[in-house]
Amino acid sequence: MLTFNFSQNIKNQFNETELANKFSKIINDEKLGFFKLVERQELISESKIAFEKFKTKKHFVHVGIGGSSLGTEMLIKALNNNPEVKFTFINNIDPDEIYDQIKQVNLKEAVFFFCSKSGGTAEPMAAMAIITNLLEQEGIPLNDLKNHYVFATDPLKSELLNIGRELGIQCLEIPSNVGGRFSALSPVGLFPALFAKINIDELFLGAKEFGETLKEESATNPLFTCSQYLLKLKDSGINQTVLMPYSSKLRELSFWFTQLWAESLGKKFDLNGNIINTGLTPIPAYGPTDQHSQMQLFMEGPFDKCLVLLEVENFHQDFSLKSNFKGRAFEKLNGHKLSDLMKAEFHGTLRALKEAERPFIHISINQLNERTLASLVLFFESLTALMGDLMQINPFDQPGVEAGKIFAYEFLEKGQ
Ligand code: PA5
Repeated sequence: MLTFNFSQNIKNQFNETELANKFSKIINDEKLGFFKLVERQELISESKIAFEKFKTKKHFVHVGIGGSSLGTEMLIKALNNNPEVKFTFINNIDPDEIYDQIKQVNLKEAVFFFCSKSGGTAEPMAAMAIITNLLEQEGIPLNDLKNHYVFATDPLKSELLNIGRELGIQCLEIPSNVGGRFSALSPVGLFPALFAKINIDELFLGAKEFGETLKEESATNPLFTCSQYLLKLKDSGINQTVLMPYSSKLRELSFWFTQLWAESLGKKFDLNGNIINTGLTPIPAYGPTDQHSQMQLFMEGPFDKCLVLLEVENFHQDFSLKSNFKGRAFEKLNGHKLSDLMKAEFHGTLRALKEAERPFIHISINQLNERTLASLVLFFESLTALMGDLMQINPFDQPGVEAGKIFAYEFLEKGQ
């Protein structure tokens, strides 16, 4: 269960009926499959079937970039329950990093998962060329790659799909109507999750259950309250959104959110083709670590940020802070548990933000588990989609990154 609180009450621009209608139009649009992804039980089944073949592997190498990696990184970091499998994420093309990463992989013994919705993104394809060459040097021919590789890609149109079919490599589906940054709960995240002993049925159940709340025509629907709050703030010049979970395991959630928010809401044109150059700038953070880094700016810098503070009410582990050391810090800590300190720092920050009259949204989850994480994922995806509608832009495209890609290929060809 998730609960929501705001630093102040605001008067809504739209009423709950208008917002419910807008949201219903988004989620019932055939071209937008993110919300109904978790109704597609066959995506779980196909991920489980692929897992059966590779389940004895002790090293999982995930290759993808942007939306084809960030969601998986977030799921694995938050919920990994299997110390026996090592995960490596090849999510960039720094030759030195790839060299270090590959050095640590027993190539013949690993499973390589190449994720690309379009099936033609330069970075993961470059990594695939490198890994395939290395496997060949180890005596693994192309026709044996099916015993080492799994793909996730668009099931209708993708060069990766063509290669997969030709070589008999299992291709898991990234549904055509689900964009990369909305694909965390597709096989892109589900297949790796199985190696981390994450219960993927629970992920779907959690998201489905919370999805019902998000559809409610109610003034307290968190999707409606949050979107109205952020929109109002944006109109008053507060156009930066800090996501700050108080949990190390949710640090990657901030990076996943950063891409979702930036790529979806940062747009030049509105839906009528007018130039508006709009957006909400995401800032990833995590607490309490960032209290010793970015918090000074959040608390006293420009009045342009809204903090979304995420509280985990109960941790799975805890420690006593009892000690016989002398000194102010030890004396204050004595008699408490580590989770008490976390709670105190979280609520201390909330109070300080209130006193400094800084806007914030306080989200609480009872505990970090499959259900709550999937609810958060669906919540932020839905919020992004609704914000896009309210800002009158298309949150599902990313035309701004195309020019750079075209110029990069041109540079490759011409050397300048
Ligand atoms: O969210 C998106 O659509 C992008 O960030 C993509 O995920 C990213 O560009 C990678 O694309 P692809 O999955 O086609 O390789």
